[in-house]
Amino acid sequence: MQLPISNRKGIPFFYPKSDIEFQRDDYELYHEMVVRQSALHLADPLWGGYPFQAIFDFTEKHYPNVTDIDIVELGCGVGRWIATLAKRFPTSTCWGIDYSYQMLKQAHRFWVEEKAIVLDLKDRGLDQQTIKGESLTNLQFGLAKAEELPFVDSSQDLVVHSFLLDRLENLTKALEEMYRVLKPKGKLMVVSPLNFQKAAHWKMYFPPGQLSDILKEMGFVLLDWEESMMFEEPLDKRGNVIRWNCLGFVAEKR
Ligand SMILES: C[S@@+](CC[C@H](N)C(=O)[O-])C[C@H]1O[C@@H](n2cnc3c(N)ncnc32)[C@H](O)[C@@H]1O
Repeated sequence: MQLPISNRKGIPFFYPKSDIEFQRDDYELYHEMVVRQSALHLADPLWGGYPFQAIFDFTEKHYPNVTDIDIVELGCGVGRWIATLAKRFPTSTCWGIDYSYQMLKQAHRFWVEEKAIVLDLKDRGLDQQTIKGESLTNLQFGLAKAEELPFVDSSQDLVVHSFLLDRLENLTKALEEMYRVLKPKGKLMVVSPLNFQKAAHWKMYFPPGQLSDILKEMGFVLLDWEESMMFEEPLDKRGNVIRWNCLGFVAEKR
């Protein structure tokens, strides 16, 4: 693991994010993006369950049988998946990596410092929610780009991410980084709506068969591939939702 360049309120920075990069990053907008992510991933009772539970159900059968492993979630947001893995594998070393300091600060406060989160959702017609934090000792959060990971070659047993792939500037470079840091037989687990924002990305990675060809060329073996996983992101008291049509896959490093 590389040494951090700097540290801000308990969050190590492995990438020197400039003021301009902070200003341009929508995910640094506390009230819009962090509250939206916290509501989605941390307020289960409000929705009658975890709206993205299908991610865990899809990947569950591919988790290793051993417990002492190294796991990283990329684009972890408020850290729901990596925290779930940290609890599932209590003697593992778990890292949540994200490019947004605001997301990481929220994740760290909640999952590591055991601070409660008070979510004001009145603008969605919903009651204020107070969610109790946890104190996980095998989980750390750090700021880095998926395209420049701070881990040494062949160091991770599991690399996971959800709703990240289509938001990456340089997807091929990020996939190469994921391959580099995985141990041989290590697994990459991905769920993404493939909701690309750039014409060049649609051309290069869509339909999903093109993405699978790229993964195979890199040296991944595909263990699972599901092209139509439906997710509903709840929005408000009325029951409005965003419906996401996701690709889910599990790939193993040869
Ligand atoms: C749509 S959110 C997804 C969050 C969560 N994984 C989920 O399933 O909802 C995308 C997250 O990826 C982060 N992100 C965007 N580009 C990134 C990059 N290049 N490297 C690491 N994280 C990135 C954002 O800051 C944000 O927290």
